[in-house]
Amino acid sequence: KSVAVLGAPFSGGQKRRGVEHGPKVIRDAGLIERLSSLDYSVHDFGDLSFQHFEKDEPSLGVNFPRTVGAASQKLSGAVSRAIGAGHTLVMLGGDHSLAIGSVSGHAQQCPDLCLIWVDAHADLNTPMTSPSGNLHGQPVAFMLKELQDKIPDVPGFSWTKPFLSSRDLVYIGLRDVDPGEHHLLKTLGIQYFSMRDIDRLGIQRVMEATLDHLLARKQRPIHLSFDIDGFDPSLAPATGTPVNGGLTYREGIYITEEIHNTGLLSAVDLVEVNPFLGANREAAETTASLAVDVIASSLGQTREGAHASIDTMT
Ligand code: ARG
Ligand code: MN
Ligand code: MN
Ligand code: MN
Repeated sequence: KSVAVLGAPFSGGQKRRGVEHGPKVIRDAGLIERLSSLDYSVHDFGDLSFQHFEKDEPSLGVNFPRTVGAASQKLSGAVSRAIGAGHTLVMLGGDHSLAIGSVSGHAQQCPDLCLIWVDAHADLNTPMTSPSGNLHGQPVAFMLKELQDKIPDVPGFSWTKPFLSSRDLVYIGLRDVDPGEHHLLKTLGIQYFSMRDIDRLGIQRVMEATLDHLLARKQRPIHLSFDIDGFDPSLAPATGTPVNGGLTYREGIYITEEIHNTGLLSAVDLVEVNPFLGANREAAETTASLAVDVIASSLGQTREGAHASIDTMT
């Protein structure tokens, strides 16, 4: 088994500097070593470099449209090639607008993929409903076929077409959803588990229902898009849009263990780690090390332990 690690040092989907250093701090927290110790052959593809636009005026209320459009297009190609070559993909962000690129590149190779979005936010705003104009709050809207007519022609995005049905998406961890997003969640009938739902059902039943919703009809590749702000800010302080009352460490790791146990995980995004934020350097390091735990657990690190085979034990 082989995993491709691809860094995407990009921050144009929002306005706070620093999130472009996510790939570096996650690598510095020991990601490659952890994955190697899980018995993967790890192919570190390094970091992509993104085009800088001198002039990138807002269009239709969207900030840095050409910058984000070009970055996601580049990422999409790189992800498609890595998955086409047979690797499980790990994409290190960068802000969550990158998911337009990573999920679309994955879908190019695996058109029947399904998407699990772990996040405090739904990232489902359209350019018209977005309160901020930031594209990291909009990636899912650019993916959904049902929203085709609701997305205007934003400069930089002519390369992409919606490719995902709303029934192939499940959200976990929501607790800061804008009115326009809530309207879409309800009218499109998207399956979501807010923090309140996790309080009511417990994470075990949430995962059962999530996997049942996506996989009961047929087994297909899973894309996990994990925004570190899904966790409680006490665990992941170094992020741009923290929201109180998030996932515990154990809930987060249970989610990824269950996804690993399906044997269907095909790509993971780990986004929104911003080492410039948080009270101090330690805050950034804890957040990055949490990101490594999430990725390792998605790829098979267990809490109960594991062994290769009885006859290699002494
Ligand atoms: N809902 C807000 C917006 O659309 C915040 C989005 C935060 N997104 C994120 N990927 N952290 O601007
Ligand atoms: Mn978020
Ligand atoms: Mn909000
Ligand atoms: Mn997000």
